[in-house]
Amino acid sequence: MAYKNREVAKAARQLKARFSKLKNQRAILRAPELLALFDRLKTLPSDERASFGKEVNKLKQELEAMVSEANSQQPTTNNQAIDVTAPMDVNANRPALLPVDLASRHPITSELENILDIYGRMGFTAVESREIDDDYHMFGSLNFPEGHPARDDYDSFVTDEDLLAPAHTSTMQNRVLRAGKKDLESGQAIRAVIPGRVFRNEDVDASHSHTFYQLEGVYVDEDINVGHLIATLKTFLESYWEQEIEVKTQPFYFPFTEPSLELTISCPFCAKAGCSICKHSGWIELLGCGMIHPNVLREAKIDTEKYTGFAWGMGIDRLVMMKHGIEDIRHFHSGNLRFLRQFQ
Ligand code: DAH
Repeated sequence: MAYKNREVAKAARQLKARFSKLKNQRAILRAPELLALFDRLKTLPSDERASFGKEVNKLKQELEAMVSEANSQQPTTNNQAIDVTAPMDVNANRPALLPVDLASRHPITSELENILDIYGRMGFTAVESREIDDDYHMFGSLNFPEGHPARDDYDSFVTDEDLLAPAHTSTMQNRVLRAGKKDLESGQAIRAVIPGRVFRNEDVDASHSHTFYQLEGVYVDEDINVGHLIATLKTFLESYWEQEIEVKTQPFYFPFTEPSLELTISCPFCAKAGCSICKHSGWIELLGCGMIHPNVLREAKIDTEKYTGFAWGMGIDRLVMMKHGIEDIRHFHSGNLRFLRQFQ
């Protein structure tokens, strides 16, 4: 096709010469020479614009025709059978492993390992939580009456089948208690920690995410009281922060504990002098805990005359943010390499 305008003719020559060499031939439609002609069109006085525009459009159409012609010549089928049930493309070459030295451990993974290691040495077994659950484990087994307003604090995502994305790791309490009942009756305490990913209907900002991590802890035996609860948490915290930590409790409300407490710790960064991390108060509210409500034990068929226990739930993200000075919780799920590579 001949072009009267010299600029268009020149671009046409260049583009056609390049076309056959391109792997992705459709890319010719976004070639800089073509885009430059459209840009130029906008700058022309109106009397020149019509004829120039016609030529540029003609060139574009010619290129489009070349692309569709080339595509129609490509074989659209091959004779190999495709296994549509295979978990990967069995027709493709096997992917090579990515070089390990480019990877780094996610800070949540590393810290969780550290946390589980400390609890492991304290005699706690780690149990995995689950990421889809039901109303009974989320509420019913935890002494939340039907329609009770406390349920609103745990607003989460629900499927059409009425399954839900758990809003806390306490969903695992009933399972852990039921599984441990036999051991308990043969004289062994129930001691479990349950890390897990949890989900909430949350307005997202630097310190709130719809997806975050918690660690639940459960301890049941004969003659267990609040003193055991506080000593256990203090032991963990001092090991985690590698220093002496003071703890304070204040009354709180959770349907699944009685009494319910909020545990506050002395700031590990300023020894209570006041700093930006503890918002200049010297103290940090860290977690919820309490003595397991008899209704929760009863629901797991545990004899409440004989056994008592405590439980706690701690947010992991905040702990990791504090430890590493991370200012925005959204970094954790961002996949941003500039963030992740700092933990290599
Ligand atoms: N599940 C509570 C929450 O996410 C935290 C919690 C509080 C867990 C007290 C416990 C507990 O096991 O005893 O807000």
